[in-house]
Amino acid sequence: MTEGSIEAAAAHPRILIVGNAGQLGRELEKLFAGIGPMVAVDRESVDLADPGQTRDLVRRAAPDIILNAAAYTAVDRAESERDLAYAINEGAPRVLAVEAGRRGALFVHYSTDYVFDGSKTSPWTETDAPNPLNVYGASKLGGERAVEEVGGKYLIFRTSWVYGPHGNNFLLTMLRLGRERDRLSIVDDQIGAPTTSIEIARATHAIVTGILTGRFGAIENWTGLYHMTCGGAVSWCGFAQAIFTRAAAMLAVKTPAITPIATRDYPTAAVRPLNSVLSNARLQARFGIELAPWEAALEDTLHALRNAG
Ligand SMILES: NC(=O)c1ccc[n+]([C@@H]2O[C@H](COP(=O)([O-])OP(=O)(O)OC[C@H]3O[C@@H](n4cnc5c(N)ncnc54)[C@H](OP(=O)(O)O)[C@@H]3O)[C@@H](O)[C@H]2O)c1
Repeated sequence: MTEGSIEAAAAHPRILIVGNAGQLGRELEKLFAGIGPMVAVDRESVDLADPGQTRDLVRRAAPDIILNAAAYTAVDRAESERDLAYAINEGAPRVLAVEAGRRGALFVHYSTDYVFDGSKTSPWTETDAPNPLNVYGASKLGGERAVEEVGGKYLIFRTSWVYGPHGNNFLLTMLRLGRERDRLSIVDDQIGAPTTSIEIARATHAIVTGILTGRFGAIENWTGLYHMTCGGAVSWCGFAQAIFTRAAAMLAVKTPAITPIATRDYPTAAVRPLNSVLSNARLQARFGIELAPWEAALEDTLHALRNAG
């Protein structure tokens, strides 16, 4: 394959999804299934901490598009597993970007609101200086920089507070705790935008298909770093309250008494930013794409859970 291969392969691009058992990976696999031949892998097929395995995976799959939904996402554990977090969040994206570059393939990568220190009082933009407070955020920032350094055809989407109908996430934890406990204390001074794996996958699909059909023009018009979150903002406590209000109606879940607490009353291994709300203005201006407001996306996800029984 030569430079320009995604355009040449626009009708039936070969797709490689890395991390297809994760929250986002599952949704990407569903949405991209119809686009072209697909290889979707998780930890059982490749250990991303091993650069040789990661390189071989791409060479075997020979993709025109790589979607990297894999990451080391255990924010607190990363404080004591620094090397592993960096290997997966910085080392693996670098190898994937290099291999994508060799083939002229498009590389889509995801990053996090935790690259910021939370000190700003308005939403963070792509031009704001990152200053991660924890190892996870620093390792993800390392991944962004590695991908940018390699260059080529890449998209980095920074998102936040990811949850969905599957996996390890705040929504499913709240629904479980709601069954187990009568009272919950939830942090009320960290503000962010809860974002569903479904919304991120939809937006990614719209952007990638737009690029394939030439709708966004030449590479310099679209390659780069974008914030991609659901609309609005809420605290973890406000999010929990919304979950129980809606889930009580839709899933017959009982509502525990919720006490708002401060971050300092809930010590964790990793320090988290107080304000991690991201501005999506660049995404909207460049691609004309806006994700659903967080409340609507929550409703959507609860519907998906109800339909799944
Ligand atoms: N979750 C959030 O709140 C959040 C917030 C902001 C940004 N993001 C970013 O959004 C993207 C998607 O996150 P997500 O929530 O969908 O993540 P997730 O559900 O934790 O999925 C990550 C996937 O990566 C796999 N993985 C981890 N280490 C691996 C290794 N060494 N080799 C192969 N696979 C490995 C995991 O497998 P195992 O399950 O077997 O470990 C898992 O299937 C990531 O880039 C993440 O950094 C997430």
